Amino acid sequence: MGFFRWVSLIIIFHFFAATRVISDSSLSSIPTKFLNFAKNPEVSNWMVAIRRKIHENPELGYEEFETSKLIRAELDKLGISYKYPVAITGVIGFMGTGQAPFVAIRADMDALPMQEMVEWEHKSKIPGKMHACGHDAHVTMLLGAAKILKEHEKEIQGTIVLVFQPAEEGGGGAKKILDSGALENVSAIFGLHVAPNMPIGEVASRSGPLLAGSGFFEAVISGKGGHAAIPQHSIDPILAASNVIVSLQHLVSREADPLDSQVVTVAKFQGGGAFNVIPDSVTIGGTFRAFAKETFLQLRQRIEQVITGQAAVQRCNATVDFLDEEKPFFPPTVNDGNLHKHFRKIAGDLLGVDKVNDMQPLMGSEDFAFYQEVIPGYFFMLGMEDASVERLQSVHSPYFKINEDAFPYGAALHASLAASYLHEFQQDVPVVEVNHHDEL
Ligand SMILES: *[C@@H]1O[C@H](CO)[C@@H](O)[C@H](O)[C@H]1NC(C)=O
Ligand SMILES: *[C@@H]1O[C@H](CO)[C@@H](O)[C@H](O)[C@H]1NC(C)=O
Ligand SMILES: [Zn+2]
Ligand SMILES: [Zn+2]
Repeated sequence: MGFFRWVSLIIIFHFFAATRVISDSSLSSIPTKFLNFAKNPEVSNWMVAIRRKIHENPELGYEEFETSKLIRAELDKLGISYKYPVAITGVIGFMGTGQAPFVAIRADMDALPMQEMVEWEHKSKIPGKMHACGHDAHVTMLLGAAKILKEHEKEIQGTIVLVFQPAEEGGGGAKKILDSGALENVSAIFGLHVAPNMPIGEVASRSGPLLAGSGFFEAVISGKGGHAAIPQHSIDPILAASNVIVSLQHLVSREADPLDSQVVTVAKFQGGGAFNVIPDSVTIGGTFRAFAKETFLQLRQRIEQVITGQAAVQRCNATVDFLDEEKPFFPPTVNDGNLHKHFRKIAGDLLGVDKVNDMQPLMGSEDFAFYQEVIPGYFFMLGMEDASVERLQSVHSPYFKINEDAFPYGAALHASLAASYLHEFQQDVPVVEVNHHDEL
C-alpha cells in the first residue's frame, strides 16, 4: 500500500471517527429527548384520553373496527400516511423518508372475552369484554411513539413502520399481517408488553428464547349415554376423559427432558348436565407449551396418541382437533442477539442502566413470535407497578388495571428504539465507502 493511500486512509478514518463521535452523542441524546417530550403533560394526557376511550370499548380479535377507526383518525390528525385494511382491521403507518432501511414497531389491539370487575369511571361498556391484557395501553403507546417521531420526523434516517395488529390473543393476527406482505423489506421489528408486577420505569428482556411456543387442542370423547344407576348399559365418557387427563399429565413428568421446559394443561372439561345421567360425550381442551419446535411437534403427536389410546381403553372413541385455523400454533418468541445489545443501550440511556433487567424465559406465549420467524425481532416487558400506590393484578385478571404513568416510557422506548436503529444502520453504510476509496 503506497504512502498516499495510507495518508488518505488515515484522513478518511479520522473523518469517520469524527462523524461517529458526533452522531454517537446525538444518538445517545435521542432517548432523553423523546422521553422528555412524552412526559410533557400535553402529550401524556392525550395518551391517557386515547387509552380510556379504547378501554371503554373493547373489541375481540379481528373485530377491532372502532379501535382501528380511532387509530386512523389519530394518524390523520398527525399527518401520517397508512395502509388499511391490513389483516381485516390492522393499520400500518409509515413515517420518515419512505426509503430503506425500514424498521417496524408493533402494538396489538384486541381485548379478551371476560367481564371487567374493576369499578371505575372508564370501565368497559361492553358486557363480557375487557382489555385485561393491556393491549389498549399498547395501542396508545404506539400512537404516542408516532407523535414523538412526527415531532422529529426530519431526523428519521429511513422509514419507521407502525404496526397496529389485530387478534393477538390466539387469533394469529401477526401471521396475517406478514401474509399481507406489508412488512416486506423491514429489517428489524420491536414490540413490548406491559408487566403489572415490574416497577414503573424499569424494563426486562433477554437475548434468545423469551416466551414459549404454544398450541391448543380440543378433544371430543364419545361413549354411550344412559341411566347413571345402570352403568353396564352405558359407555361412560366422563371416566374415560378423566383417565385421559391423568395420562396427559405423564407426558411432561415422564417423557420430557426435565431440563427442556414444557407444559401440558387441560383447562376445559365439559360434559354431563344431570346427577343421574351418563352423557354421550365429553369435550376437553387445553394448551401445550415448549421452547423448541421439535419438542413441540413431539408433544403434539403424543397428545393425540394418548387421548385416542386412553379413550379406547375405556371403550370410547376420541377425535382430537389442534384448531390450526382458529388458534394457530404460536412459535417460541426468540430475541435477536444484536437487537438485544441495541435495546440495552437505548433503554439504558432512557431509564438508567440499573433499570434494564435480564429476565428468565416464561411459558407464556406471544404471536410477536411470527414476526421473529422472518424478521430479526425484539420483545420486552415494560414495568408499570408503583408499589407505593397499589399492587396490580396479573394480565387476564378481571381486576387487571393499567398504570397510565407508564405511557411516556413505553412511547419513548418505541420511538427511540426505532429512530436510533435507523441512525446506527445508516452509520454502518459509510464503511462500505471507505473500502471503495481504498480500492481506487
Ligand atoms: C420492497 O422493496 C422492493 C424492491 O425495492 C419493492 O419493489 C417493494 O415494493 C417493497 N415492498 C414494500 C412493501 O414496500
Ligand atoms: C367408535 O367408532 C366405531 C367405528 O366407527 C363404532 O363402531 C363404535 O360404535 C364407536 N363407539 C362409540 C362408543 O362411539
Ligand atoms: Zn393476553
Ligand atoms: Zn397481551
